[in-house]
Amino acid sequence: MNVSDYGEDIAEVLVSAEDIDSRLEEMARELEVMYEGREDLLLVGVLRGAAMVMSNLALKLRIPVTMDWMAVSSYGMSTKSSGVVRILKDLDTDIAGRDVLIVEDIIDSGLTLAWLKANLESRGARSVRIVALLRKPDALKVPLDVDIVGFDLPDEFLVGYGLDYAEKYRNLNCVGLLSPHVYSE
Ligand code: HPA
Ligand code: MG
Repeated sequence: MNVSDYGEDIAEVLVSAEDIDSRLEEMARELEVMYEGREDLLLVGVLRGAAMVMSNLALKLRIPVTMDWMAVSSYGMSTKSSGVVRILKDLDTDIAGRDVLIVEDIIDSGLTLAWLKANLESRGARSVRIVALLRKPDALKVPLDVDIVGFDLPDEFLVGYGLDYAEKYRNLNCVGLLSPHVYSE
């Protein structure tokens, strides 16, 4: 969907569909260099937000990959990540000895992702790296090594390209800010 399909819900577009597409293209080229000579890269998408980034990045890659998915939820307060993580859906793949690339829509506090990276490393992966389309540097609560980031954005609530508000707006083709009327309804 385009912004106009959502009526007045999107107050401001921060990253356009075109900018996302061309940045994903660049990120794919960077990844091809990063994994040159490696044969068995596994992309791990973190459900549900990473679905769009995972699909479109994978389609742009000119190296063979396999793809798997995880779903995790953090315990505690509903809107702020606590860093205590529960696996809702685990990998179907044995990653011992594999090169693993975690694919994320957004890095916010970094707590869940730091936990996930350590968890995958403990399974004996050859390497575990992180790629994310978006990051909010001001929201980070833990040091987190991210190998490739698409865009750094302000610490505001974003929707689109996988990011939801109450499960809506994931299929918006850009990233933007919600209008206040959406929250108050
Ligand atoms: N919007 C939607 N989901 C999120 C965000 C956001 O800004 N940050 C982390 N998950
Ligand atoms: Mg995510």
